[in-house]
Amino acid sequence: MASSRLTVPHHVAIVMDGNGRWASQRFLPRIAGHKQGVDSLNRCVRACLERGIGVLTVFAFSSENWNRPPEEVSGLMELLALSLSREVPSLNAQGVRIHFVGARQRLSEKVQAGLAQAELSTAGNQRLIFNVCFNYGGRWDIAQAAHKLASRGEAITELSLDRAMAMAHVPDPDLLIRTGGELRLSNFLLWQAAYSELHFSSKLWPEFDDAALDEAIAFFNTRERRFGQTSAQVSGHDKNQDARVV
Ligand code: IPE
Ligand code: IPE
Ligand code: MG
Repeated sequence: MASSRLTVPHHVAIVMDGNGRWASQRFLPRIAGHKQGVDSLNRCVRACLERGIGVLTVFAFSSENWNRPPEEVSGLMELLALSLSREVPSLNAQGVRIHFVGARQRLSEKVQAGLAQAELSTAGNQRLIFNVCFNYGGRWDIAQAAHKLASRGEAITELSLDRAMAMAHVPDPDLLIRTGGELRLSNFLLWQAAYSELHFSSKLWPEFDDAALDEAIAFFNTRERRFGQTSAQVSGHDKNQDARVV
């Protein structure tokens, strides 16, 4: 359990990477790694609730993941459908509100109905907002937001774009974790991660446990978030601050 002296990030975002390698290491098919990944995600949701994290956003399927072998793509679609029926009752019981973020048109009608039903049935929950990014890409989100504004004849500004994004219902992530050892964003939250603290874990996603989450939170606590200001300004030790003419 995280120490109470640590600041808990309000919004944690995770690129859940490494399922395939986890399976390959065990001579299992890649889909076995994805199934193990769902278990790891369930554990992570519980850990976020225990630590008082307010928003958890996970990358489950990227716009580019359609380029994987067809049997892996269909396996992931089936796993999504299965997880919806299996996991939603327990998420509901834990007070988790689920949102699916991403383009839905390409998903089967059955899956689309399942996503809508999961969102509806958890809509009254308030303990944790859980965003599952599925068929999501940061570029898709920026483009769809711009398209929305253009079709309404609205001016494109940082604020209007931000409000038209698929992630507009939550503040930007404070901490962005990527498991699996790669040091890249792979088209995740390109707009929203502008000032997120980035933590890269070498653990493969199925092995990402409570201790690994606590390590990421501890890392977050070592960072000074400056948002463009100087360190002295942030720590309140800016000698010029008092003298500034306002
Ligand atoms: C992440 O794990 C899950 C998805 C992209 C769906 P990977 O499947 O990318 O696992 P590795 O990177 O091949 O090990
Ligand atoms: C990012 O992982 C997408 C998800 C975790 C869903 P990838 O495994 O697809 O990323 P790349 O291809 O290594 O950049
Ligand atoms: Mg990967």
